[in-house]
This record gives sequence, structure tokens and C-alpha cells, in this order.
Amino acid sequence: MIKPSPKRIFKTDYKNVLEQTLGHAIEYLDGLDDRSVAATVSLAELRERFALPLAEKGIAPTRVIEEMVSAAEGGLTGSGGGRFFAWVIGGATPASLAADWMTSAWDQNAGLYACSPAASVIEEAAGNWLKQLLGIPASASFAFTTGCQAAHTTCLAAARNGLLTRLGWDVEEKGLAGSPPITVFAGNRHGTIDRALRILGIGTASVRELDVDADGRLVPEALEAALSANDGRPSIVALQAGDLNTGSYDPFEKLIPIAHRYGAWVHVDGAFGQWANASPRYRHLLAGAAAADSWAADGHKWLNVPYDSGYAFVADSDAHRRSMSHRASYLIHADDARDQMDWNLEWSRRGRGIATYAAIRELGTSGIADLVDRCCRYASELVERIGSLDGAEVISPAQINQGLVRFIDPSGTSHDARTDEVIARIVAGGEAFFGGTTWNGMRCMRVSVSGWQTTDSDIDRTVEAVKAAINA
Ligand SMILES: Cc1ncc(COP(=O)(O)O)c(C=O)c1O
Repeated sequence: MIKPSPKRIFKTDYKNVLEQTLGHAIEYLDGLDDRSVAATVSLAELRERFALPLAEKGIAPTRVIEEMVSAAEGGLTGSGGGRFFAWVIGGATPASLAADWMTSAWDQNAGLYACSPAASVIEEAAGNWLKQLLGIPASASFAFTTGCQAAHTTCLAAARNGLLTRLGWDVEEKGLAGSPPITVFAGNRHGTIDRALRILGIGTASVRELDVDADGRLVPEALEAALSANDGRPSIVALQAGDLNTGSYDPFEKLIPIAHRYGAWVHVDGAFGQWANASPRYRHLLAGAAAADSWAADGHKWLNVPYDSGYAFVADSDAHRRSMSHRASYLIHADDARDQMDWNLEWSRRGRGIATYAAIRELGTSGIADLVDRCCRYASELVERIGSLDGAEVISPAQINQGLVRFIDPSGTSHDARTDEVIARIVAGGEAFFGGTTWNGMRCMRVSVSGWQTTDSDIDRTVEAVKAAINA
């Protein structure tokens, strides 16, 4: 016998659980200022709370949420709040968070225009706004990705296609086995570049590491010499807009013309640093970057939209499309609208651009410029004030929103161990959260400010917390 179809009470289930969730969300967000910024419960405790035996019977949606929220208590970091300065992590602005909820409520498969016309047109609009904000040519194609990792992978897939098409090699059909090898020239770079090269079959052995200056900027003479020795073979030059340690920018105006003279594809990692273009005060740092061939950036860092949100841009839209597009008879392809799967790694996907659309409308260009300027000012203030405490020193003054300090071992024997020890104490104190890094052979504390919620009072509270950790 066919079972009766599931009940109409689904409607009230949605209402009850969504109203309950709204309450939990507001309570969580309101509490960010007072709760420990670090997680406070152990791995064992979290496993005990979450890793329940797989149940045969389901439970009410409201109970699922109630128990999940209660089990997560103490297991979250306050990365959306005002005193989280580790890695490069932003919070979520109100409109972008709400838009993210709507994305889930609408639950559209934003892979094709036919599947969700509104999601397609929202992404089309947001992609065009992003190009204006980030200083990328209007003619570039784009994709909304899960993050900068996926944006690099998308851009470098387009690079692989573009470079090898020029040599008459159809990499989409033949793959890389037997193809002309691609060499990648880079100075300092984020690990996501290497992972993209691994995923794409280009491999990390293809990377030629070039000299950088004291701030981590690629030296133009080193690039010129390396490309000239490469004899015109296909090459990618991976540049940085915002070094993860110092925030420094490669000198694009010098490097890109050199790379192009040798026919190289220039890719820019602007995960957070590309946002400097949104501020008249910092835009000069990207001078010359618009001439690149591809750019990767993130929304979940400096634009403060919820995870996960990244952006890929490609100057040669044909290469981009060739590397991603697919046609199938069971799909409906749009002739005059945007089918996201022509540009993305994913086939089915959420309406990933919707939160970005909302954040840009919420902040406007002036609000985004203000966010960038504010984070840079706070980073600079934090580095100076922490660096001037007894027992601390500045290693790299903040460039944009990134700087480095370290802590001095009074016995003079191990500043590295002392730095890690003080960072651990700050984190354990729960008032602020920082991470460590190794820069020029020294352990340092990264000061990275990306959150829209940080205020003057957060900076004061943080400096006090660092002082207490030094003196503990
Ligand atoms: C410079 C840089 N590039 C790439 C990434 C990777 O970004 P995502 O985590 O969004 O993949 C990061 C940070 O995580 C970064 O700081």
C-alpha cells in the first residue's frame, strides 16, 4: 500500500523552528562581546556531546536545534566579534547574514539560469559590482566560489587552458600527460596556490621560487632573469596583493609588463588585499594589477559575508569558459543569461552570490571604503600599542590590515618560545584571539584585523589582555 504523503504540518514545523532559531541566533550574536573569544570546551567533551549513536527514530526539528545549540556552547570561537585577530577572518554583516538565511530558505540550485533565474541575475549584478570595487576590468568573467582556494583553482584552470590552447594543445580533452609543461614563477605565496597546482595536475615541482625583498615582494629583476631563461615555454606568474604576514603588495606595475613580454599568464592572489581597491586611501597599492590575467579574492574575509564566499575573475573569458563549461541534453542552457556552471567548479550549488549582493547594497562603496580604512587603522594601532609594551617589539608595522609583533624572552635565550607562550596565554584568557607565524626565521604574532565589529573599546581591551599575558 502506498503511504499517505507527509503531512501539511510541515508548514508549522518551519515556523516553529525558524522562530526558535532566530532567538538562538540573536542570543549568540549579542553575546559575542562578553563570551570568551576562544573555545572553552575540550575535544573530548565536544565528541561526547555531538557523536551520539546513530538513531533509528528522528526527533522534532525544534529539539534538533535546541540540542545542537546547547552542545555547541563553548565549542565556538568568537571569530565574528570584535576581538578576533587571528588569520584573516571576518564576521557577517546583518544584511549578508539575513541574505544567507534567505539563500537557504529559497534553497535554489544556482547552477543554471533555468533552475533559478533570480539567483543567476543576482550573481550577474553582484559580479559586476565586485569588478568595480576590486579594480578588475569590466570585461573579465567571474565566478562565485567557496573561497580563495577554489578561486585559485578556477583561475589556474583557465590559465592552463589559455596557455595550452595557444600551443594547439586541448587540455580539456587530452589532459596534461604529454602536454608542454607549464612552469610557475612565484615569490612568497599562500599554500592555496600550491594546492591548486596539485589539484590541476600542474604539480608543485613546476614552481620556481624567486627572490623577494625584505617585505616579501617579488623582485622584478629576478622575474626578468627567470623568464628570460625559460625560453618562451608556457608559464604562470603568481603574484600577491596582500602578503599573509606583512600585508605587502607585489610591484604589479613593474612585474606584469615583464611577465607579459614573455607571454606568461599573471595570476593575482588578492584574497583580502584586493579589497584595498575599494578605499581611495589604499587603492594605489594595486596600481598596475588590473593588467593581470586572473584574480582571486574572498568575500568571507574583508567584505564580512558569511562563509563560504570567494571570487574568481579571468580576463580571457573564453579560456575561463572553456575550462569549466559543459553541455548535457537533460539540462536547459541559457543563451542570453548567466549559467553559473559555465564558470564554476560546481555543478549543483547554493546561490553563493546572494550574501555578497546584500552586503554590497548594505554598505555601499563608502561603507566598504570605511570598513577597509577602519580595519587598517585598528591594525596599525594594535601593532604600535602592543609593540610598545614592555616585553614586546614590532617586527612589521601594519601594512593595510596586517602586521607582526613578537615577545621578548627576558633571559634572551628564546624569543620564539616566549612568543608562542604569550600567544597561548592571550588565547587562553578569552579576551582576544591571535595566531602565530614564522617570518624571516622568527616566531611572531600576527595582528590581522578584518572584522566589521571591531571598535575602539575592543582595541583597548585587547591591549590590556596582551599586557596581562606578558606579565602573567
Ligand atoms: C593571501 C591568502 N590567499 C589565499 C587564502 C585562502 O583563502 P580561503 O581560505 O578562502 O580559501 C588566504 C587565507 O586563508 C590568504 O590569506
